[in-house]
Amino acid sequence: MALKYLVTGASGQLGALVIDALLKAEDPASIGALVRRPEAAAALEAKGVTVRVASYTDAPALEAALAGVERLLLISSSEVGQRAVQHQTVIDAAKAAGVSFVAYTSILGAKTSPLTILPGEHVQTEEALAASGLPYAILRNGWYTENTVMAAPQAAESGALYGAMGTGKIAGAARADYADAAAKVLTGDLPASGTVYELAGDTGYSLTDFAAEIAAATGKPVAYTDLPQDAFAQALEGAGLPAPLAAMLADSDHGGSQGGLYSDDKTLSQLIGRPTTPWQTTLRAALV
Ligand SMILES: NC(=O)c1ccc[n+]([C@@H]2O[C@H](COP(=O)([O-])OP(=O)(O)OC[C@H]3O[C@@H](n4cnc5c(N)ncnc54)[C@H](OP(=O)(O)O)[C@@H]3O)[C@@H](O)[C@H]2O)c1
Repeated sequence: MALKYLVTGASGQLGALVIDALLKAEDPASIGALVRRPEAAAALEAKGVTVRVASYTDAPALEAALAGVERLLLISSSEVGQRAVQHQTVIDAAKAAGVSFVAYTSILGAKTSPLTILPGEHVQTEEALAASGLPYAILRNGWYTENTVMAAPQAAESGALYGAMGTGKIAGAARADYADAAAKVLTGDLPASGTVYELAGDTGYSLTDFAAEIAAATGKPVAYTDLPQDAFAQALEGAGLPAPLAAMLADSDHGGSQGGLYSDDKTLSQLIGRPTTPWQTTLRAALV
């Protein structure tokens, strides 16, 4: 069956928001959602979209799932370390299935980023798309404000927000902003192949700003404590995070201290036709 759009990672937080954004503008019959777990299908089918099932690791299933698809949004996998191979498998399947356009969710400043863990697989995927011959665009998504907000309840409780970002600023935006941008690129006149969108929030904040906003929202004192990268990784591990995740978060913070999570590029708000969601709004919504 032909599908104008297919969104991968549709069981995830960003994917679900992209499906919702597409549904505001397009016929549900034109929209497909790719999931790897059949049990994730029901919630998406209830929205009226077509669900196809395949893992990024299963080439034959992917090729079947991509049959008849015109425009594909490849949402990057959450399995850090396996992503370059997984994304290559999706790209190969898209090519074999005759998909006519692929948009891929990469990372802000992928090729120049001071972060050392996350960008590599995104760069490999960008290069795989360029080599594939498929028409494509790159959505270099900045930091989700929701990432930083995850630390807010505990910071509010303890009065201390820890990080390794120094005075670095984050030009974050809400997942819903990046989702709206992806839907715009997917549904609009297709950009020239190879177009790169650097996507960042309209305003930046430091973790000191963030701690002050938590304090203002809760009426309790909260201060930001800056730690060396290794000490922050150890603190995260001590709080129960798996070592690779702790290392990745500490590396992202350290990269953020070098400006890696900041950009004054306003492409995101231009693309979605409205200001990006203020970080304070996302934070306060999570603290109520
Ligand atoms: N910009 C940022 O700040 C930021 C932050 C975090 C992540 N990211 C990246 O952006 C992506 C989307 O973010 P998110 O918040 O929506 O993440 P998420 O909620 O963890 O969703 C990840 C999605 O990828 C799917 N997936 C993972 N491995 C897969 C595989 N082998 N085959 C098929 N599907 C697979 C997951 O399926 P299941 O539901 O079956 O697990 C899920 O649908 C992440 O995967 C990550 O690459 C960016």
